[in-house]
Order: sequence, then structure tokens, then C-alpha cells
Amino acid sequence: MLSPSLSKIFYTKPSIGEREAELVADATQNGWGDACYDYIHKFENAFKSHLNVKYAIATSSCTGALHMGLAALDIGKDDEVILADINWIASAAPITYLGASPVLVDILEDSWCIDPKKAEEAITPKTKAIIAVHLYGNLCAMNVLLALGKKYNIPVIEDSAEAIGSIYHGKHAGSMGTFGTFSFHGTKTITTGEGGMFVTNDDALYEKVLTLSNHGRSKSQTKQFWPDMIGFKYKMSNIQAAMGCAQMERINELIAKRGTILAWYKEALQDLPIAMNPEPENCQNGAWMSTMVVDASVRFDRNQLLQEFKNNNIDGRVFFWPLSMISAELNSEHSPKEFTLRKPNPMAYSLYERAINLPSYHDITKEDIERVVKCVKKILA
Ligand SMILES: Cc1ncc(COP(=O)(O)O)c(C=O)c1O
Repeated sequence: MLSPSLSKIFYTKPSIGEREAELVADATQNGWGDACYDYIHKFENAFKSHLNVKYAIATSSCTGALHMGLAALDIGKDDEVILADINWIASAAPITYLGASPVLVDILEDSWCIDPKKAEEAITPKTKAIIAVHLYGNLCAMNVLLALGKKYNIPVIEDSAEAIGSIYHGKHAGSMGTFGTFSFHGTKTITTGEGGMFVTNDDALYEKVLTLSNHGRSKSQTKQFWPDMIGFKYKMSNIQAAMGCAQMERINELIAKRGTILAWYKEALQDLPIAMNPEPENCQNGAWMSTMVVDASVRFDRNQLLQEFKNNNIDGRVFFWPLSMISAELNSEHSPKEFTLRKPNPMAYSLYERAINLPSYHDITKEDIERVVKCVKKILA
């Protein structure tokens, strides 16, 4: 039974201050006419220099950024794109928009991200890309994946929606692959309400995505309202970008707090038979969402923990389901046949039920975390 005196602990909540309100108000009042792209360009520039990449294009979502990037790589009908079985559907859906097939491979036990060996085994002549999704801030084995990409001449894409603040051997998540994508949905480390970013260091790919993103009108086209190809409309608004600019002024603070939250959980839960977001040598985990995975040898029912959270007015959030499990159940009108599973993925199927995301938002306090920890300890006792 829910205790009425307990304040709600959300699993996620953005941190929006006066500066965000000030810049959004300015964009609302003044960001029109000649100024209608000013905050968008400022936001792109700030993001680009944070990541240390050559190009950034603000979009209406990460899903849209992925869709355009994949289209710019000419991925289409009957092509295959490899990604990990445990993921949010947003990483796979854009592949199907293009008529290509997501090929789902197993994950590594320690990072919960794509297993490069399984990715290599899944490569066929139809493979047109590998998407490395840095799950919950954890980093994929980028050196191995990039070497694979080189060996087979396949682009490696980084879906870094959850990896703002994650750094791999000195390089930001999203800056290492052929292109990277980010999300600024309200749950993310920085937010514009909804929004995303496409980033790349590749001149030609940038020009192509820029053209695609503008309904197919290339920069060099002098005729008004004259598209050179069928493109997309996945633009971010100037008002959203104003919020993004204010968030970028605080990006170090926003990232640091995620790390602090993860450290608090790790310390409080250190005696339990669980693993949390890893931070291998030479890596920084952006810790978007502190997550615990219970050891396989321990009996654990995640529904019991979710109920305990509910009783204590705490929002619970399940770890992502295997996409192959979801795709098997999808309404057949909406293309489940496009998902491909060549082999069983035992690690993905063993892990998801043992894992749970813990509340991880900027303003969470140590006292809130102690309440969460108490529930975890009760269930795992
Ligand atoms: C890994 C990953 N990729 C893509 C997305 C999609 O982001 P958006 O909602 O901005 O399209 C999300 C968002 O939940 C995500 O977590």
C-alpha cells in the first residue's frame, strides 16, 4: 500500500532553470524573420564544439537524425543493418522505414551493448551498416567495431541518444563513427522537449544530410522552392534550440550530476550481488540512467521490485526488452518480417529480466536515493 506521506520520486525529470525560460522567451519574441535560425545555429555550434566534431545538424528527434543518416548512406530495400537485440525500438525503426532489415545480435554481459564477435558473424554481402548504441551511457567496444567496419568496408554508426557525457579513450560518444545521433527528449541529459542532433566529420555525408534535411534543397541551389531530391522535414525549431543553448551553458554540470548519482548508487548498493553501469579503463560513463543488473545466480523477480517501488511512490522503469521478442509480436501489417534474428541471443534473453533502471534525474537528492536503495535491499535481502 502506498504511504501517503511519501513524495514522488520520478525515474526521470529534466532540469529547467531561469536561463532556459529566458532564452525560450527571447526566441518566442524575437526569433523570427532574419533571426529564425539564430538559436539553431548557436545550438549546433555549441554541441559541435562540445563533441569536437566538424558538423552538426539539429533535428526534431534522434529517430529523424538516424533516418536521414541511413538514407544518406543509400541504405534501402533488402539491405541489412546490424544492431544489438536489446535496444529501444527507435534505434531499429528507421532501418525499416527504408525497407531494410535490422539484424539483431547478442550483447556483451558487462557493457549490455552489442557483442562485436556476434556482429562480425552476422555480416553478409547485404550488410550496409552496424549501429553501435551506447546503452544507458555505457560505451560499445568502439575500437573493435571500428576495426570491423574497416575490415568489411561497412560504416559504423553511433546512436548516442543515451550517451551525452560518455567518453571513450578521449573521444566523445557519437564522434567516432561515420555519423552519430543524439536525442534531446525530455528524459535525456540535455533536453529541448523533443529534439535530436546528427553529427559527422565527413564533408560529403554532411552536405547530403543537410540537403535531405531541407526537403531535398541543396545549399548551392539558387532557384527558390526547387528541391534537388525528395528529402525530409525533421527540423528543430528555433524555440527548442533556444532551450538547447541554455542547456549547453550547463552541460558540464548536467553531466557531472549523472555521474554523482551513479556513484551514490554504487556506494550504497556495493554489497549486493549486482552490477551497475561499468566504466572501463580510459572511459567515462555519461551515466544517463543508473541501472542495476542482478547476478544470474541470484533469484530475482523484477516485478516484485517494481511493486515495492510503487508502494513507496517511486517510478520504476524496466530495462529494454529484446527487440526480437517485440518484433515477434508486432502487428503483421506493420512489418515484423523485416526484423532478422539469425541465431538465438542468450545473453540478451538472460539479462533483461534481471535488470532495472533506477531513478536518475538531475534534482534527485541523496535522501531520495536512500529511499530507492532501501527498496532494492528489501527485495534482494
Ligand atoms: C538509444 C536511443 N536511440 C534513439 C532514441 C530516439 O530518440 P528520439 O525520441 O529523440 O527520437 C532514443 C530515445 O529514447 C534512445 O534511447
